[in-house]
Amino acid sequence: MRIPIIAANWKMNKTSGETRDFFTRFSEFPKPGPVEIVICPPYPLLSLAAELCQSGGLRLGAQNMYWETAGAFTGEVSPLLLRDLEVQYVIVGHSERRQTFAETDQNVSRKVKAAFAADLVPIVCVGETLQQRQSGRTEAVVEEQVAAAVGGLDPSQVRRLVIAYEPVWAIGSGLPANAGDAERVAIFIRRQIGNLFSLKVARDVRIQYGGSVKPENIADFMSSAEIDGALVGGASLDAAVFTAIIEAGLGVRAS
Ligand code: 13P
Repeated sequence: MRIPIIAANWKMNKTSGETRDFFTRFSEFPKPGPVEIVICPPYPLLSLAAELCQSGGLRLGAQNMYWETAGAFTGEVSPLLLRDLEVQYVIVGHSERRQTFAETDQNVSRKVKAAFAADLVPIVCVGETLQQRQSGRTEAVVEEQVAAAVGGLDPSQVRRLVIAYEPVWAIGSGLPANAGDAERVAIFIRRQIGNLFSLKVARDVRIQYGGSVKPENIADFMSSAEIDGALVGGASLDAAVFTAIIEAGLGVRAS
């Protein structure tokens, strides 16, 4: 059985004071289980968040990393440094990194391999732009991104992978994907992993939906057995709203 995974991608938001406030407020709400809740703060907050995640039973994730373990790479952060800070997950290939920082499929592939080598679990983001969607290329784009991310991996690694389907046009727009469309893409991805590896491997891969997730729409996505959770941006910044997302998402799983 796949354990649902709901992750907060804080992007470039929050100070240390705001981080403490978030965890204090978040700890006030009861959390239904079983679920993995992952908080992905900006790098400078990882050490503080590591302490706070540990006391709250939460997982810690980073938003990016470089693929080399050490060396002359000014401004970059290695997988070993992340492990040293007790990070367990790392977001790789977010569309903001692909679009604003020229992240390529080749870089995503290197990062995924380096993450596994350091015993970090990658959350690989895939998804089409509006233009790609309108020209009927959603599946082709996602297929290429997934193929690059899983190429050269062991089946034992792929089973642990998290894939976040985040249509680029749905991110930060307030316009989430239609749940049926998201489910179709999740099925497509799982079938692709099944063809590349095995049905058994495909059954273990967790697939999240991301893009304008809110307490009001999470149930639409998580009521599909194919969608194992969400990667949440803006709505994860407020502890009460993020808790409402977790409750609504898991509520529909239990029923
Ligand atoms: P929003 O939830 O703000 O649309 O962001 C989604 C996202 O990019 C998560 O990685």
